[in-house]
Amino acid sequence: TDEPLVLGIETSCDETGVGIVRGETLLVDAIASSVDEHARFGGVVPEVASRAHLEAMVPTLERATEQAGVRLADLDAIAVTSGPGLAGALMVGVASAKALAVALGKPLYGVNHLASHVAVDVVEHGPLPEPVLALLVSGGHSSLLLVPDVTSDVQPLGSTIDDAAGEAFDKVARVLGLPFPGGPHIDRAARDGQVAIDFPRGLTGGRDLERHRFDFSFSGLKTAVARWVELRQRAGETVPVPDVAASFQEAVVDVLTRKAVDACRSHGVPDLQIGGGVAANSRLRALAQSRCDDAGVRLRVPRPGLCTDNGAMVAALGAQMVSRGRQPSRLDLPADSSMPV
Ligand code: KG4
Ligand code: ZN
Repeated sequence: TDEPLVLGIETSCDETGVGIVRGETLLVDAIASSVDEHARFGGVVPEVASRAHLEAMVPTLERATEQAGVRLADLDAIAVTSGPGLAGALMVGVASAKALAVALGKPLYGVNHLASHVAVDVVEHGPLPEPVLALLVSGGHSSLLLVPDVTSDVQPLGSTIDDAAGEAFDKVARVLGLPFPGGPHIDRAARDGQVAIDFPRGLTGGRDLERHRFDFSFSGLKTAVARWVELRQRAGETVPVPDVAASFQEAVVDVLTRKAVDACRSHGVPDLQIGGGVAANSRLRALAQSRCDDAGVRLRVPRPGLCTDNGAMVAALGAQMVSRGRQPSRLDLPADSSMPV
């Protein structure tokens, strides 16, 4: 086969991911997470994450190559997330990838974390349509992207002006007494609840919508939920956690799907791809599907395990860069915590 065999390393947040692909075929996606170490702080602690990456890197690399039955010497390239993300955490991955590239004499590809959330979908659904419209929703980002070519041309249409969608899930979960990270817990709690409370949809009307058509805002929603809960608690009432979870979740996914479909329509792009940790949300997946069906938009969402951070997405983007003949990175590739798309 002449498809490139690429190993990808992801350390931008709290997951140490090592994935290996051959072209568009996923061979292995090994992951180690420090999420439990952060849980008692209610958020990711950068220093703890960096240290955990350092400890997990070699064992995760070994697990990946063993499970895939791949020898390092057979790799065609090493890809690594070079930004955006936590500076110290990124540095562990970038330094590891450089060491491998030098030792093996293979090309190094630094990749953008947001682009790789889009690129990973090729291992599930084959080549990306060009262009594709991408909704990227994670703990750190909420963006709408127009993607003519994921290896070289990713255009931001809009993004959150305050909290990321995942961040809002995590903060509201905390208010409801649910563990960190809160997204999956709210998703689960909401299944037993009703959308009974009308929480605000940020940037969806009037001047706000005109000026911020493809932007998001979730901090007003978060505050509204916190205030609603606090009033019940002060009155000595029990808080209907499933109803609050369902109502909050509906407000988030209503706005996300409405704006994503609007972006497809206004840019004449018939394919929508959703990625990032929040794309694992069951209600987001269901509502996106029905709104895309109504609008004649084809929807692509990878399985939940490929939506959250992982190494396969880095390998997948790396392989596409190799196939497209993109220039490898220099060995002084920096970790860029605030890298734009
Ligand atoms: O992409 P990701 O793994 O890491 C970042 O780059 O941030 O996303 C993690 C975020 C967290 O905020 C988490 O609460 C959220 O994704 N998340 C979910 C679900 N699963 C993970 N949010 C809503 N529903 C879910 N099922
Ligand atoms: Zn991510």
